[in-house]
Amino acid sequence: MLKKLAVLTSGGDAPGMNAAIRSVVRTARYNSLEVVGIINGYQGLLDEDFRPMSLGSVGGILLHGGTILRTARCMEFTKSEGMNSAAEILKRNEIDALVVIGGDGSFHGAKGLAERGVKVAGVPATIDNDMGGTDYTIGFDTACNTALECVARLRDTASSHDRLFIVEVMGRNAGYIALETGIACGAEYIVIPEKPIDIEHICRKIDYAKNRGKSHSIIITAEGAISAQALADEIKSRVPYDPRVVVLGHLLRGGAPTCLDATMAACMGAAAVKNLIDGESGFMAGYVNGKVEISPLETAWKKKKDIDDNIMQLLSILSI
Ligand code: F6P
Repeated sequence: MLKKLAVLTSGGDAPGMNAAIRSVVRTARYNSLEVVGIINGYQGLLDEDFRPMSLGSVGGILLHGGTILRTARCMEFTKSEGMNSAAEILKRNEIDALVVIGGDGSFHGAKGLAERGVKVAGVPATIDNDMGGTDYTIGFDTACNTALECVARLRDTASSHDRLFIVEVMGRNAGYIALETGIACGAEYIVIPEKPIDIEHICRKIDYAKNRGKSHSIIITAEGAISAQALADEIKSRVPYDPRVVVLGHLLRGGAPTCLDATMAACMGAAAVKNLIDGESGFMAGYVNGKVEISPLETAWKKKKDIDDNIMQLLSILSI
């Protein structure tokens, strides 16, 4: 029987993390569990930086970006000794279960704790959407909407000046943000790490667009493929523009979560707690084909999603 549950956020922050914390805390309190928040992710676990979480402690946070529990990337925790002490600390503080809200790096840590007998659940949250076991990670939709808004503004100035803008988005080693934003904003070209970079093709496409009367062009590049500056340097002598470079960077991590992210966070957070209460452990609560589903933590890194080639093709057709 669970009595006391802890929750932490780990890795890069993502819009919707607060909504997930709220869901975890309120579902746990609804089920009469005592809840503690761990400040600063796994580092806070090792430092025993714990705060009691009441129903009221998560009031008014739902639509705020960032994470009230703060977050960190903790090197000490990646080592076996770090995980051993963390498991021992949880036991000593009579914490029966832990909910980890974060990306696949954070889930590796969670898996380490599960192997040491800790009851653990993962809630997938990263703007990168680079995890298996879920169609959406919390924060991805907000990041794409932010990128979309920025590109719309860039288009205004690009079309006024006959310019090519190369916009770099985050995503670590994955191209999901670039792909989703590219299709939504009608980019002339996207460059993602999952596909080889064809400089010749990029130049031909931009040249063709200009010749057929387009007043401007937008290329979206994922940081994991090539930086916007490096791409500009590669193509500038071969396209009919003097390219401008914009790096959106951490802007994509801020802001209020979209409706989709806040809803995902509510559903996944609640599912994590309910399944822990039902005796499950070592799982992630994801969203697959329209419903919340749990799968083993390692699904996050062992069954990564593939880039949809149909979407890639659609982008190429629509950007003629
Ligand atoms: O994983 C989220 C993410 O924002 C990536 O898209 C990016 O590569 C990385 O984190 C940036 O990390 P940091 O905030 O440590 O610079």
